[in-house]
Amino acid sequence: MSQSYNRGLIEDFGRWREFSAGMWAWIFHKFTGWVLVGYLFTHIAVLSTAIPAAGAEEAVLTAGEDVYTQTIVTLEDLLLVRILEVGLLAVAVFHILNGTRLLLVDLGIGLESQDKSFYASLILTGAITVASVPTFIAGAF
Ligand code: HEM
Repeated sequence: MSQSYNRGLIEDFGRWREFSAGMWAWIFHKFTGWVLVGYLFTHIAVLSTAIPAAGAEEAVLTAGEDVYTQTIVTLEDLLLVRILEVGLLAVAVFHILNGTRLLLVDLGIGLESQDKSFYASLILTGAITVASVPTFIAGAF
């Protein structure tokens, strides 16, 4: 006779200490994917300030006083924006590395080493993010 037991809902986030590497990979992938979608709309909003700038006088553009240049300069002057840019890079790099890993797993490649490849995605994301900090922070102070 078969036996069953109540393992509870795996979707119960109160049990996060019991989550496996695969569950964390799933959560991080969804999270980073939706952060990228959110960034996409923010990015379009900022870039759309180039529309009124396109009609500006040449002298205004040369002096960098058009709305688009002013928007970019104002944003880049904020340390918070520089920090968010580093975060965005981390999110994008993780999503690309983990997404590529998932596509390979879907093809049956690396099925036996999914935990290891997930940890490798995390470590590589951390290394690339740390290496990017000097570039993003340059000129912020
Ligand atoms: C080289 C770039 C990318 C790769 C390789 C990639 C790969 C993937 C893969 C394989 C999945 C499905 C994961 C699963 O099986 O559950 C996924 C999900 C997702 N991706 Fe990407 N992706 C990339 C870029 C992007 C970008 C640029 C965005 C947003 C603008 C994005 C947004 C999402 C979202 C929102 C999901 C989750 C959808 C859901 O809730 O099920 N991805 N990605």
